[in-house]
Amino acid sequence: MRVGVAGLGRMGAAIAARLIEVGHDLTVWNRAPGKVEPLAAAGAKVAASPAGLATQVEAIVTILTNRDAIAAVYDGPSGLLAGSVKGKLVIDMSTVQPETEVALAERVRAKGATFVECPVGGTVGPAREGKLLGVAGGAAEDFARAKPLLAQMCRRVEHVGPVGAGSSMKLALNLPLMVYYQAMGEAYVLCRHLGLDPKWLMELMADTSGGPNILKVRGPKIAEALAGGDGGPPAFDVDSIRKDLATMAAEGRARGTRLPLAEQTLAIFDEAAKDGWGKRDGAALPAYWPMRASRDKEKR
Ligand SMILES: NC(=O)c1ccc[n+]([C@@H]2O[C@H](COP(=O)([O-])OP(=O)(O)OC[C@H]3O[C@@H](n4cnc5c(N)ncnc54)[C@H](OP(=O)(O)O)[C@@H]3O)[C@@H](O)[C@H]2O)c1
Repeated sequence: MRVGVAGLGRMGAAIAARLIEVGHDLTVWNRAPGKVEPLAAAGAKVAASPAGLATQVEAIVTILTNRDAIAAVYDGPSGLLAGSVKGKLVIDMSTVQPETEVALAERVRAKGATFVECPVGGTVGPAREGKLLGVAGGAAEDFARAKPLLAQMCRRVEHVGPVGAGSSMKLALNLPLMVYYQAMGEAYVLCRHLGLDPKWLMELMADTSGGPNILKVRGPKIAEALAGGDGGPPAFDVDSIRKDLATMAAEGRARGTRLPLAEQTLAIFDEAAKDGWGKRDGAALPAYWPMRASRDKEKR
């Protein structure tokens, strides 16, 4: 199939590489032009604009930072929707508020194209291997059309309702994880003085009722950060986590309530960003509060 990926951030680039690998005829575009090069070297065609990309392909995939990025890539004289999109399939996988996807779906359908949202769980590695967890929103027949392509990107894809439902579900899936990173940091403050090996500690925590899946997948990275390492190149960085938490808090307000845990966690991670942690991987966050505790102790 002729597929286009517009937006080659960490996730978009990994998904694009995966789509080439499974045999699609891929066209790519990215705002910062340098990011197209590795994909071009892997066989992708490079479009000069989102509109050009849309015109060349049968299906369009986007995974972008936020609502503003979606507007920048879809709208305007050279945006995706200025291309020839009638009858084509459009899938947006960004993590945003449901209302953003609902509004985007209207703009896409007004051009005669099919729209499905499918935000994903899982980071760069699973994206590269086609092992994401997708939560799709769209009409049943639109989801059926998108499913074969989504199945090449996801180990599991669930249709959770109309457009907007996928975003609601994705925000819900991510909230406990983000709060957990801070919970782990506070837990470590309570037991750090025992001098136990953080790797062993992650394994022990994973073996308890309070141990989430993330400890099995990212436990070694968390342990490395607790031991003073920087966590390596970020797959999902602290700034992206702050964006997700802010989106959750905004969605809570839109639903008429506060999300006190998410809001408090966001305030702490905002402090982490001010302390220069914004570009570090999220798996390093459990080390932030213990670091703060040491700093506060030294000041006293
Ligand atoms: N990383 C993860 O582990 C992960 C996992 C699941 C979901 N997500 C979600 O996936 C989305 C992308 O995440 P990511 O980690 O891949 O982010 P990223 O590496 O920062 O990439 C963001 C992409 O959006 C583009 N973009 C941002 N603002 C733009 C604008 N105004 N105009 C045009 N393009 C713009 C960027 O273009 P430039 O390259 O030109 O800046 C880049 O292609 C986010 O919604 C995130 O929450 C991420």
